[in-house]
Amino acid sequence: MSYKTVDRVSRSGLSLGLRLGLGMALVSLVPVTTVQAQVRSSGKKMNPGSAIQIVESIKTMNRADSLLPPPATDDDFFPRDAAKEGLGRLLFFDKILSGNMNTSCATCHHPLAGTSDGLSLPVGEGGLGLSTTRDTGHGPDRVHERVPRNAPHVFNLGAFEFTQLFHDGRVALDPSQPSGFATPAGNDLPLGLDSPLAAQAMFPITSGAEMAGQSGENSVGDAAAAGQLAGPGGVWDQLAGRVSSIPEYVTLFQSVYPDVQVASDITIVHIANAIGSFESGVWRADNSLFDQYLRGDRMAMSPKAIKGMSVFYGAGGCASCHSGTFQTDQSFHAIGMPQIGPGKGNNLPGYSDGLDDFGREGVTGDMADRFRFRTPTLRNVAITGPWGHDGAYSTLRGVVEHHLNPAAALETYDTAQAVLPSDPALDPIDFICANDPVRRAALASAVEIAPVNLTNGQIDFLIEFLYALTDRKSIDMRLDVPESVPSGLPLAE
Ligand code: HEC
Ligand code: HEC
Repeated sequence: MSYKTVDRVSRSGLSLGLRLGLGMALVSLVPVTTVQAQVRSSGKKMNPGSAIQIVESIKTMNRADSLLPPPATDDDFFPRDAAKEGLGRLLFFDKILSGNMNTSCATCHHPLAGTSDGLSLPVGEGGLGLSTTRDTGHGPDRVHERVPRNAPHVFNLGAFEFTQLFHDGRVALDPSQPSGFATPAGNDLPLGLDSPLAAQAMFPITSGAEMAGQSGENSVGDAAAAGQLAGPGGVWDQLAGRVSSIPEYVTLFQSVYPDVQVASDITIVHIANAIGSFESGVWRADNSLFDQYLRGDRMAMSPKAIKGMSVFYGAGGCASCHSGTFQTDQSFHAIGMPQIGPGKGNNLPGYSDGLDDFGREGVTGDMADRFRFRTPTLRNVAITGPWGHDGAYSTLRGVVEHHLNPAAALETYDTAQAVLPSDPALDPIDFICANDPVRRAALASAVEIAPVNLTNGQIDFLIEFLYALTDRKSIDMRLDVPESVPSGLPLAE
């Protein structure tokens, strides 16, 4: 195997020459003689056997290389608009958009937590604290249920190819719809939303558990509970009204949108478009070591990450789903992720507790889509755990190993790793599915991946490669947090 070859060579002190040789070979298919010259120039003698091994490993790298996606370019992303992004940033962090004025988008997609929340399942409105310090709140306003799916990160979603959002793709670009988007709101969705991210931003504000609050708590929560999203007095109208009553916002909207003359011109569409613009522009993250490698700097990644890359695009079979520039086929697959938390109200035959999550089937109604979830992009994956649609895995190695034999992993899944703020009313529900052999068998029978055999060493390399997908800019994003928001509401969670 080529991986072993590369290992042995680097141990014999030839790693620099090999890296040079590999790097160049990957760029330009340099003739073997050049590589040999470089290996020789490192000052060590080599026997003809190892020269052949090196050439073999270069061939393997070349094979992996030919499967690599093209690098991302500016043309892959929505154009940026600084003023709109600036307005969107304020709205993204402003709790004014939640019924009880206690939750913002950033509560679950925070720059200090990799644009997610560091939890397996979010604690929505009513909770207190950020990320792993968040609790389920106190008194009558406390959290009544967990949000059933993991809060995904928001990196690179401004690339045109992300046309389907949410783990099940229920918000999607669809030119056949009057609004241009297929969403749970159907024809209630207003016209004028300018990107899938903008269309997506219409929904967290309508969710009782996430932002709107419960019926009886506030008028937004009442409208949300009654399913009244559009029209006068609906969730969207009420929230736009709140924003337009704040003079600082009115001035900002007037400067960003030519069609906003007076406060009452501000609509939820302006709000959603600004939020989408912020997410899209500020959280582009395509400058990882891997991106630099794809753009031609073949020395950007460590030798271990390069080996991991060849496992990813070779023996690991990862790229059959994690394909393309952003390492997702933008499609849906069943990989038997353990099911934890309150579920999406679905029931397998014989059950009525609603704790299952059928994934894509919930959108298409097609049983063939049962337990399928969208293939996530892997950019920045090292900083966006816990992983999986319900955050079942809290280590990268855990979620990678899960893929190698999902049915076996379901049986040995350790529920202790779930990151769920404890609550006496919610805890008893969390692992009912994961602990139920019948439900595990149903998940296992839907799995689309045949078991893959990788050595521990190969898995180590894979992890190394996944780390090389982190854009350094994304590691410290404190500057993405505004100092204050126009409503004057606190930024702290
Ligand atoms: C209480 C936590 C919470 C809040 C608050 C919240 N989100 Fe989310 N967000 C989630 C969860 C959970 C999902 C995934 C839900 C699903 O797939 O069913 C999600 C999904 C998303 C996605 C789709 C990501 C993808 O890869 O498909 C985007 C974008 C997003 N949220 C942006 C926002 C914006 C904008 C706001 C504010 C208007 C917001 N979120 C408020 C928890 C939250
Ligand atoms: C059959 C398609 C398929 C193959 C092959 C595949 N994956 Fe995945 N992967 C998925 C899907 C789908 C998910 C999300 C599943 C869920 O959330 O329930 C996922 C999730 C992940 C995650 C978690 C990402 C996150 O944001 O939560 C990682 C990491 C990952 N895959 C890495 C790999 C690696 C490494 C390989 C190769 C060993 C691989 N995948 C092979 C489809 C696939």
